[in-house]
Amino acid sequence: GCRLVDPVERTLALIKPDATGNTNEILNRVEQEGFVVVGKIEGRVWSQQDAATFYSEHSGKAFFDTLVDFMSSGPIVQLCLEKVGAIKAWRELAGPTNSTDAKTLEPSSIRALYGTCGTKNAVHGSDSFASALREINFCFDQAGEAAAVVAPAEETA
Ligand code: TYD
Ligand code: MG
Repeated sequence: GCRLVDPVERTLALIKPDATGNTNEILNRVEQEGFVVVGKIEGRVWSQQDAATFYSEHSGKAFFDTLVDFMSSGPIVQLCLEKVGAIKAWRELAGPTNSTDAKTLEPSSIRALYGTCGTKNAVHGSDSFASALREINFCFDQAGEAAAVVAPAEETA
């Protein structure tokens, strides 16, 4: 059947090491666009192992080592965002993966405004419900840091 009402979702967003200087601007945009910040951890620096585990789906790809080095190069901001359709909405707001492309394709996107290239692209966003669940648990696994993902609404028709 088809879904009658879009579900409230939570997604995992990261402000990457190249964009933490723009944290206030990014958080203002997030709130303008109707997301609720339900979890926020600032200042954590990932180890190379943290980055490799988080991005394990990309293990073996040509850009993997560069990605791991970049993601462990300085402090990041870990965010859990809530909104109707949050997973898709946050990736749309983030914009195209490559910030150079984003500047022409989606010039008002966060990756266009605050990123610089294919590696330094300002933000991360979960790409599916399963990814959001795994990534939120990865970033907020210490007791009390954040809550679980809201389950998708039941399909009713
Ligand atoms: P990917 O999951 O394909 O993109 P997205 O972040 O939009 O989900 O890739 C993960 C990260 O890896 C991406 O944000 C930046 C980096 N990356 C590169 O450095 N080079 C590349 O060619 C690709 C595809 C990604
Ligand atoms: Mg991805």
